[in-house]
Amino acid sequence: HGTSKINAKGHLEIGGCDTTELAKEFGTPLYVVDEALVRQRAREYVEAFRASGLNFQVAYASKAFSVMAMCAIAEQEGLSLDVVSDGELYTALQAGFPAGRIHFHGNNKTPEEIVMALDANIGCFVVDNFTELKLLNALAGEKGKKANILLRITPGVEAHTHDYISTGQQDSKFGFDLANGSAYRAVKEAIEQPNLVLLGVHSHIGSQIFEVEGFKMAVDKVAAFAIKVRDELNVTFKVVNLGGGFGIRYTAEDKPLPIREYVKAITDAVISNFTAAGFPLPEIWVEPGRSIVGDAGTTLYTVGTTKEIPGVRKYIAVDGGMTDNPRPALYQSKYEAVLANRANEPAEETVSIAGKCCESGDMLIWDLDLPKANIGDLLAVFCTGAYNYAMASNYNRIRRPAVVFVKDGQADLAVKRESLHDIVANDVIPQRLRKAPT
Ligand code: LLP
Repeated sequence: HGTSKINAKGHLEIGGCDTTELAKEFGTPLYVVDEALVRQRAREYVEAFRASGLNFQVAYASKAFSVMAMCAIAEQEGLSLDVVSDGELYTALQAGFPAGRIHFHGNNKTPEEIVMALDANIGCFVVDNFTELKLLNALAGEKGKKANILLRITPGVEAHTHDYISTGQQDSKFGFDLANGSAYRAVKEAIEQPNLVLLGVHSHIGSQIFEVEGFKMAVDKVAAFAIKVRDELNVTFKVVNLGGGFGIRYTAEDKPLPIREYVKAITDAVISNFTAAGFPLPEIWVEPGRSIVGDAGTTLYTVGTTKEIPGVRKYIAVDGGMTDNPRPALYQSKYEAVLANRANEPAEETVSIAGKCCESGDMLIWDLDLPKANIGDLLAVFCTGAYNYAMASNYNRIRRPAVVFVKDGQADLAVKRESLHDIVANDVIPQRLRKAPT
């Protein structure tokens, strides 16, 4: 997929770069990002929205992969940006991302984070709860500013996805519930706050979603809510944000729709619902993360040790694991992989790919068909662009890998590999624990 192919040497090539050369130059584990594919995905969203005729913003959910180079690409592609912490906001601002196109999410924004975002003049706060509504109004007032807000509502739509990442159902830490009247009270309170400008509502129903039904149901619920608040409170939503969650293909089990079909389902549902209610058509915002960067990422590992339990299983260990990709351990996520330096060879055996952490759960792939792998071979695991680098850790004091962006035969470092110095950079030995000078 994307610009990946097998070259004349039988090596996996991405963005015109031979992965064996990338491994030599940058070391492994290495995250490789196919820049052309990221841009293509961004354009698929923008083009699908243009086709609808609606006003829109496509906000890249930077939680999926927040690094300055990625913010730069999002900016160039005309996307907006969703951030959820001071760290993601800082990353965006340092990358020169226009603050007016930044949306700030999160269920527990600290006063310091809110002040930072107010000072930067970000475009919009997605307010999650009553505490935040009051806090934001007060802090904006102190600065003599008016903050644009969306109210995050919990539409009660449960996406068919892994439990941990379903957020649209009612029993969720996120948002104002539609069903019990909280969302309605939030609108009433929001319009009473002198320093807040209520632009509209937000709903996010989950992640890695394959069907359009959930999005359509969310639009129906949001539209019904919009009608109610217009009729009873004389408030018109200018913006309706339908969140992210559009699925991607990790393995053959996954059957996502093309991006344009998700967008069309949403825009059609918005147009029909709001037209029927005699509404001006709202501006539609979405927040895709995974579907922008997920399949553009590939992780390269070097094969190390092997353990065979005859008749049971053969383990192939690589030089990374749950520290650079915690998703298999956290969500039982499945991945596909090939031997990148022998990509044209047929599979000869079924093996399982283990990481190098001191933890039995540190497995990347169970039951993968591969040619007989030897120490020094290069394993490429696909679709690691989203929630991999973003969720990487230093467990076992393993250094986080480098990230390179590849395009047209050129490979550029986007994140340096951590050094051993980085590993101890924040450590301090309290004076009383230090060895007395000898
Ligand atoms: N908007 C909101 C409010 C969200 O909570 C999320 C994801 C997104 C947008 C982007 O969703 P996406 O398009 O990427 O599905 N760590 C998990 C995924 C957690 C998603 C959290 N929220 C994983 O690795 O699968």
